[in-house]
Amino acid sequence: MNHLEDNKSIEKLTTIGVKAKTHKYCNINDIEHLYEILKSNSLPIKVLGGGSNILWTKDFNGLTLHINNKGISIEKETNSYVVVNVQAGENWHEFVIWSINNGYGGVENLALIPGNVGAAPIQNIGAYGVELKEVFIECSAIHLRSLKNKVFSAKDCQFGYRDSIFKNKEKNNYIITSIKLKLSKQGFHKLDLKYGDIKKLIDEGPVNPHKIANAVIKIRKSKLPDPKKLGNCGSFFKNPLINNSLFDNLVKKYPDIPNYPSGGKFKIPAAWLIEKLNYKGYRIGDAGVHKNQALILVNYGNSTGIEILNLSNKIKEDVFKVFKINLVAEVNVW
Ligand code: EPU
Repeated sequence: MNHLEDNKSIEKLTTIGVKAKTHKYCNINDIEHLYEILKSNSLPIKVLGGGSNILWTKDFNGLTLHINNKGISIEKETNSYVVVNVQAGENWHEFVIWSINNGYGGVENLALIPGNVGAAPIQNIGAYGVELKEVFIECSAIHLRSLKNKVFSAKDCQFGYRDSIFKNKEKNNYIITSIKLKLSKQGFHKLDLKYGDIKKLIDEGPVNPHKIANAVIKIRKSKLPDPKKLGNCGSFFKNPLINNSLFDNLVKKYPDIPNYPSGGKFKIPAAWLIEKLNYKGYRIGDAGVHKNQALILVNYGNSTGIEILNLSNKIKEDVFKVFKINLVAEVNVW
């Protein structure tokens, strides 16, 4: 039984909610089913998880596989940590809540990041000074052509800032089916005091994963639009890393430019660059820049993927003209 659907609308399957269709679609609930579909398929494939980091700009003349396999299990437990195996189709935030409810520390700073677990290693999700790679052990993935299963260790994944082997050498070659993480039984993973907002929100007494997650949830809810109410795909661009000489030039002109030194370079918040060009709250048709967070492009209802893409290109061009910085999309444009 293949359960393929024809000519399916993907509008409700991505968080930015633009209209497009896929020629064939299959909802995958278990890995056996995935193998069965892959064995008999000859169409080009796209792999969809939570749909929170994808901008669909045209209809797709192929097969979209929607990965929804579920399950969380503890593989190993010691006095100080657990190793958990999480299936790719689990919702990331629900997994974070599961961890803190069980008293495990490690992913609390990554609360409320939209999307599914299977996508987490692809872009090495991160927030508030923590990246997935810090708790990551390995992931299992199926090679799309050979159908062989491969286990990728953290080293194999070649993690970087919002980056991994799955966005480079192995782009579109694998479907991640599960991940293994090491979580602590001895408290929270990291409280990065660079993020003053978090500290302010943590009340008296000892800090624990629960308190950090609650603070992160509060901050994210206060500035980020809820995709259920206003379509968006989170940060549209990566924060750029610039070299010393460009940074020196910019500081002379903009002494207030926020920056985070990182490996001999400087990370600049893309949101600041975009806001400086007066794009915050900007709207053209139904495509816009969010009023509280300039890094987030939003769909007010009937925007097409192309309109969002055009807006992102206009922002990119203006940022380059003024700051000589090349913004790179974090979102996958399909
Ligand atoms: N800023 C502005 N204008 C704005 C928003 C921000 O000037 O409209 C400046 C401020 O100086 C602020 C700085 O940008 O201090 C950083 O802003 P924020 O803390 O909101 O984070 P961000 O750099 O825009 C990154 C991640 C987010 C993550 C936050 C918090 C990227 C591409 N995005 O955003 O990643 O939640 O830091 O750690 O690295 C996500 O996008 O969903 C995500 C998880």
